[in-house]
Amino acid sequence: MQMPDGPPAEIDLTRPSAARVYDYFLGGAHNFEIDRQLAEQIASMTPNLAATMRSGRDFLRRAVRVLLDAGIDQFLDIGSGIPTVGNVHEVAQAANPKARIVYVDIDPVAVAHSRELLAGNDLTAVLHADLREPERILAEARESGLIDFDRPVGILLAGVVHFVPNADRPGDLLATLRAAAAPGSYLVVSHSTFEDQPQEMLDAQRLSARTDTEITLRSRAEISSFFGDWTILEPGVVHMPLWRPDSPSDVDEHPERFGAFGGVARHDQPAG
Ligand SMILES: C[S@@+](CC[C@H](N)C(=O)[O-])C[C@H]1O[C@@H](n2cnc3c(N)ncnc32)[C@H](O)[C@@H]1O
Repeated sequence: MQMPDGPPAEIDLTRPSAARVYDYFLGGAHNFEIDRQLAEQIASMTPNLAATMRSGRDFLRRAVRVLLDAGIDQFLDIGSGIPTVGNVHEVAQAANPKARIVYVDIDPVAVAHSRELLAGNDLTAVLHADLREPERILAEARESGLIDFDRPVGILLAGVVHFVPNADRPGDLLATLRAAAAPGSYLVVSHSTFEDQPQEMLDAQRLSARTDTEITLRSRAEISSFFGDWTILEPGVVHMPLWRPDSPSDVDEHPERFGAFGGVARHDQPAG
């Protein structure tokens, strides 16, 4: 892979990275041999995990369109990954050229490539930060001048909360993010699950232990709890292909084989 000025100094090339494995599965070029080896091992165990990643990107695109239709014009995308086709800013700015997006990722390669891709796009910023430090993310997003938390914002957590172990209290992290958002804001979450999954999928997910960001699979109930008291939009927290498909023919007979749930919730004003 080509980096603008060589790989960022802090990259550990002896371990695969979740962001780069994901990039490989999406057909991107921002990955190293160590990542491709893990991706190929995963692919040999089950075809479903690669399909899940593509399905996750499609879910995110559909969710962002729903938020745009609702008038959301500022997005905080945490765990945004390596830029590949169908990035949030592409979807958002195609619909609203004034849409503002702050990307956040823990992976230095994802951050370096995002900055390279977005150079010259003044309505976007890229933060190198950790979801486990939500106050810092909120402060830096504010400082970027792109996100006004007094107005409705779309907070996107697609395929990232499962990288936070229970010991790091993901429920509290999500509550901090929700508390910062004005009424009318939306929260988008997709998250890997053990529910309805065959053993080979669970075994493949377990390989994430080789990266710095091991996955914690969670139940639909646990994932739903991340929305707190916000109003979960129809059709609820569902297997990702079932969330407002562009066409019914996009959903095959086994939507559960994409081993993740997705949902979207809105911060409604309390009654009274
Ligand atoms: C599976 S990718 C999802 C990319 C994108 N959101 C999507 O849905 O297409 C997960 C991303 O989360 C990032 N990540 C993992 N743990 C994180 C953390 N604690 N804070 C921020 N980003 C994290 C990884 O580096 C990776 O880029």
